[in-house]
Formats: sequence, C-alpha cells, structure tokens
Amino acid sequence: MFTGVESLSGKRVLLIVGGGIAAYKALELVRLLRKAGAQVQPILTRGGEQFVTALSLSALSGAEVRRDLFSLTDEAAMGHIELSRSADLVIVAPATADLMAKAANGLADDLASTALLATDKAVLMAPAMNVRMWDHPATRRNLAVLQADGVHFLGPDDGEMACGEFGPGRMAEPQAICDAVLAMLEAGSSAQAAQGALKGRRALVTAGPTAEPIDPVRILTNRSSGKQGYAIAAALARLGAEVTLVSGPVTLAAPAGVRRVMVETAQQMLQACQEALPADVAVCVAAVADWRPETAQRSKIKKGAGGQAASLSLVENPDILAALAKPGPARPALVIGFAAETEQVEAHAKAKLKRKGCDWLVANDVGAEGVLGGDRNQVMLVTAGGVEHWEAAAKTAIGERLASRIAEALA
Ligand code: CTP
Repeated sequence: MFTGVESLSGKRVLLIVGGGIAAYKALELVRLLRKAGAQVQPILTRGGEQFVTALSLSALSGAEVRRDLFSLTDEAAMGHIELSRSADLVIVAPATADLMAKAANGLADDLASTALLATDKAVLMAPAMNVRMWDHPATRRNLAVLQADGVHFLGPDDGEMACGEFGPGRMAEPQAICDAVLAMLEAGSSAQAAQGALKGRRALVTAGPTAEPIDPVRILTNRSSGKQGYAIAAALARLGAEVTLVSGPVTLAAPAGVRRVMVETAQQMLQACQEALPADVAVCVAAVADWRPETAQRSKIKKGAGGQAASLSLVENPDILAALAKPGPARPALVIGFAAETEQVEAHAKAKLKRKGCDWLVANDVGAEGVLGGDRNQVMLVTAGGVEHWEAAAKTAIGERLASRIAEALA
C-alpha cells in the first residue's frame, strides 16, 4: 500500500517514543514516515532516552526533540497543548505498559502523558513489553479502556523477545505502523465524508478459528489469529453499523462498539450467527474447522497398551457461509466469504464464490509469509463483476477498505 512516495505528504505526526528495547525501531519508523512525506515531531520519554538518543531522533526527523514538560524554552517555541493539537495523528511507539497505564487513567505527569491527554487527534499505539506484562490483568484492563476511548492498537507481534521469553510483546514492524497510519488518515478523511454511512445497518462478522473437542483436554483447531475479522468488525462499527462479531477462541479484545459473542465450535458459531440475523451484510472471516471428531470423548483418551496410535473418526462441520448465503427471507443482502488458499488463489477463489453462493469472496494467500497471525495481508476481491487485486496492506487497512466498499454496495 505504501508505494506512493508522498502518500503522507503534508501530514504532521507526533511520535512519542517510550522506554523499551523496541525504541530502536522508532528510528526506522521516523525514516519511513519522512520518506512518505510526513513531518515528524518526536517526544522522547525519560525511559526512551535510555534506549535511543535525542540526537538520532532529531537527525532523522529534522525536528527538535521534545522531552520536558516544564522547559521554558520549549514551551516558548510551542506549548505542549499546541504540540498535541497541531499534529494530524499521534503515534506511541513503543507503547510501554507504563505509558498505556498512564493514558488509560488520564495521568499527566510528564510531556508524553500530558500530550496524550491534551490531544484531540487519533492515537495509534504500538505496544511492546515483556509477555507477562502484556498478559497481566492490569494491562488487559488498560487496553480495554484505551480501545473503548477510541485509541487504535497495532500489535504486539508474537516472537522471541529481548528478555528471552516468547509470546506477544514485540513491537509491530515500522512498515506495518506506517501502513496503519496511512489507513487511519485515509479512513479519517473518508470517515468524515462517510460518517454514519452504515447507520441503521446490521452487520454480522465471524472471526478466529474454531476449536473442536476431541476429549476434555484436546482440540482440533487452526492457526487463525482473528485479526482480519476483528479489523473488519471494528471498521464496520466505525461507519455506524450495528455489528455482531461471532468469534472463535482468540486473545484479542473486543473492538469498541461491537457486540461480541464468543464461541468454540463450528456448530456453536452457526447457531450464534443464526441468532444474530437479520443482518444486511454477513462477512465470514472465521477459519472454521472443516471437520470435527464424530464424538467428543467424555474422559481423556489414554494411550493404548500396545503403543498403538489412536485414530479419530471425523465428520464434516456445517458450512456457515453457505448456510448464510442460502436464498431465503433471512439471507443478508450482501454475503461475503473469505478464502484461505495456498495455491492457484484466483482459480480456487472463483470456484469457491460459486460453490458457496456468496456475493463477494475475499481471497488471501495464507502460504505467503506473515499472513497467518501477522498484521499484514494481501487479498483479491472476487465478485460477479471480476477480480480486483488489492495491494498488500495492514489488516486494519484492508478492514477499512472492505467496510467502505460494503457501505457503497448497501447505499
Ligand atoms: N466457512 C464456513 N464454514 C465452514 C467452512 C468455511 O463458514 N465450515 C467459510 C469461511 O469463513 C470462509 C469461507 O467459508 O469465509 C472459505 O473458507 P475456506 O477454509 O477457504 O474454504 P473451505 O470451505 O474449507 O474449502 P476448501 O477446503 O476447499 O478450501
């Protein structure tokens, strides 16, 4: 998506660099933002100073780095309130647990937190912290509060961290942050135009994997993270739709303004979808397990005495997309499927559109690196009218684009 060299031309970004090892990635972020034409004003926190120097940030941004809330000279140049208002968008990267906690509670004891409290612009946070800090109930609470306040989040990504632990905690890659900034600014301007474009419309979105029990401790599932479906649900809600998100087991927080129903199995997902009808649009993003064990054993299956491997007898799960797309009075006006393919993406997608009876099919190559579980996606939109190849973009950006297409189609 980020090919237009001057795509952020004339935009002003306030970048708050928090104190974490990922702060070094903020330097690359500044470079990418500037390359895209944005003006970047950095704020470096006390913690941030331990990881990157004001000199590097200043050299890359071409701006004087702000650090102190009570600096007379800085305040004389541009007061902190003006600083936070003059930007088109605020990025916090890395967003530490401490910065999130301060922002969630409205604390303003340094320049970064004061700017966050004073701003009236969109805020994008790219969290980075130790996995246990990310998983701590306090951080989960703060995340939910900030999301409800309308703060956008990107990441953290899964992976090995500087502290040696593994899990979600790594800051999103600078390119993904850049893509998200572009999507937010685009969405912001089109949202003003399209504000309420889906007001009064009902949307149903399925997301995440399903988990099919084998016995009380084992399940059949897949690697879907739910990120794409959640991004679509959030984007539809931002356009004013009344959204029900039927989600399989994922660790994502419910998007602001979305009614979420958590389920585990495909059968539960189908039932929750049917209960959510009527809807004007259904978007089936979930990676539904095609099969489930014929019977879920009541007690744990034990290893056989002769070292023989257990065998599973599987039965096919209901096809939720096909069920929703079936002609009838309850059929949503627009039914959209997703296709996870690893080869011959376009040919399989066209065949799937017909087979499932849906109106549009969004096909993605899940064999491509970083699509499953990652923050970026590359899709093609297959409709009766033909095939559109969308450029690679952040999943949030794909969500925005699809939501505005849905708004156009239902207008
Ligand atoms: N889907 C569904 N219920 C199922 C299986 C799939 O609703 N039991 C939906 C998915 O949410 C997605 C679309 O169908 O929108 C395509 O999913 P995909 O896994 O790509 O296709 P399959 O139906 O599994 O077909 P195949 O195995 O041939 O790829």
